[in-house]
Amino acid sequence: MLKHVSYIFLIALVFSCNSSGKSDETEKKVSIVDGTERYDVYQGSEMANLMRGMHAFNLQLKKEVENGKVVTEFPEEFLKIHTAEFTKAKSRNQTFDHYSGKFIEAQKMIFVQDSTIPLSERYNNAINLCLSCHQTECTGPIPKIKKLLIK
Ligand code: HEC
Repeated sequence: MLKHVSYIFLIALVFSCNSSGKSDETEKKVSIVDGTERYDVYQGSEMANLMRGMHAFNLQLKKEVENGKVVTEFPEEFLKIHTAEFTKAKSRNQTFDHYSGKFIEAQKMIFVQDSTIPLSERYNNAINLCLSCHQTECTGPIPKIKKLLIK
C-alpha cells in the first residue's frame, strides 16, 4: 500500500508550454522512502497528445505541399481540439476557442481542390494560426512550430 504512495514529484519536467520541448519527455520522481530516483516517460494530456499528432501530420503535409501535391485528407480527429482535456494547469477559454476555430478552418482550406489561393500560402496560413494561438498562452513549442513554415 505504502509503495504506491511513496513517490512524490520532486521536479516535474513537464512544462512543455514553457520549454522548447527538449526536456519534456521525462519526469523525475524521487522516492521519499529510500531517496532513489526514477524517470518515467511523460504521458501527456489528451490535448498535448493531439498537438503532437498535429505537429507530426503537418511535418508530413509540408513535404506534400512542397512537392505541389496533397495526397492526404483533413484528419477528422483534429476536431478533438474542441473537446480534448488539457494539462492540469490549463483550461479552455475564449481565446483558445477563438483560435482553435480559426485554425481548423485554415487547416481545412489546404484540402480544398479548387481554391484560387496558392497551396503553400494556405498551408502557411494554417501554421501561422498554430503560432498565433501559441503566442497567447503556450510559447515553448514556438521554435518547433516555426520550422513547419515554408519559406
Ligand atoms: C487554439 C490554440 C492552439 C492551436 C491552434 C495550436 N496549439 Fe499547440 N498547444 C496549445 C496548448 C494550450 C497546448 C498545451 C496543451 C496541454 O498542455 O494540455 C499546446 C501544446 C502544443 C505542443 C506541446 C505538446 C506536448 O508535448 O506537451 C506542441 C508541439 C504543439 N502544441 C504544436 C502545435 C502545432 C504544430 C499546431 C498547429 C498545427 C498547434 N500546436 C496549434 C494551443 C494551441
